[in-house]
Amino acid sequence: MILVTGASGLLAGPLLKELSKKKHPVRAVSRKDYDLSDNISIKALFEGLKPEAVIHPAGFTDVDGCENDGAKAWRDNAETTRNLSRACGEKNIPFIYVSTDYVFSGEKGTPYLENDSTNPVNIYGMTKLAGEVYARAGAGRSAVVRTSWLFGPGNPKNFVNAMSRRLRTESKVGALDDQKGCATGASDLSEALVTVMEYLIKLEKNKIFHETFHFCNAGETTRFEMTRVMAKIMRRDQTEISRIDPSTLTGRVALRPRVSALSCAHYEKFFNLRIRPWQKSLEDYLRESGA
Ligand SMILES: NC(=O)c1ccc[n+]([C@@H]2O[C@H](COP(=O)([O-])OP(=O)(O)OC[C@H]3O[C@@H](n4cnc5c(N)ncnc54)[C@H](OP(=O)(O)O)[C@@H]3O)[C@@H](O)[C@H]2O)c1
Repeated sequence: MILVTGASGLLAGPLLKELSKKKHPVRAVSRKDYDLSDNISIKALFEGLKPEAVIHPAGFTDVDGCENDGAKAWRDNAETTRNLSRACGEKNIPFIYVSTDYVFSGEKGTPYLENDSTNPVNIYGMTKLAGEVYARAGAGRSAVVRTSWLFGPGNPKNFVNAMSRRLRTESKVGALDDQKGCATGASDLSEALVTVMEYLIKLEKNKIFHETFHFCNAGETTRFEMTRVMAKIMRRDQTEISRIDPSTLTGRVALRPRVSALSCAHYEKFFNLRIRPWQKSLEDYLRESGA
């Protein structure tokens, strides 16, 4: 049985689909089943379930929300990961933690490698980085998978979902051009997470193994560029697309890394796989979702 956290989140749907495609029995839990920052509830969960591996995408992912409520960010991003990773360590179970490009400052200017220095510029990034430390400290077999700019079903506020709605109904849309990064299809990331999980499961039970992988679709982009590509895929070429000045936005309290593109060469080499371009993944997602 594979335990997946964050059952009501964006990544969970495609991840459960991928796990069932690979014939892994799954139990997905959401906050209403178990608050993962509560260690006692995790102990009960592990006793009942006896998982073979744990994949942990749950977390507080609202970047400005984290800045406004650092205590909740710490609980949901760092403490949940500490509790789960320790429980995995006690039972000798592989642990896979989903992390973020926001552990980097964005000042490097070129794609980040797994062993580049981390230096988050906001509380979301700091608490996710603390989660990484806990992930490695608790479980004997662990992987941290950093990803970025996810798109997929399940979260209407997600950039791609919100923008595809606007492109269908509005003649003029605006998008930010102030950050460069890598977009990632949730279904592509799900395949990668299952690949990593199956690798960890196959390792000798008592082997100590900690690895960090970057996984996102190939190529860098901006939200503005993504919007233009979406308009093309959706045949909304006539829509006027303008650049938004970030200083005009209200409620944006957290700093963001300027260039947070991730190099995924390590993942590709380790598993001898090629990651497809973000445009292809986006096109498939928009087609499948009927956009
Ligand atoms: N989305 C992105 O663009 C992006 C980019 C880079 C990395 N990531 C990472 O990818 C992972 C998945 O992202 P996502 O967009 O799928 O997240 P999401 O849609 O925000 O879902 C996260 C889920 O975690 C749950 N959760 C949070 N704290 C919990 C707790 N203490 N106990 C139990 N459940 C809890 C949330 O439940 P509630 O709704 O009840 O709070 C929510 O259902 C996250 O770890 C994120 O840091 C995401």
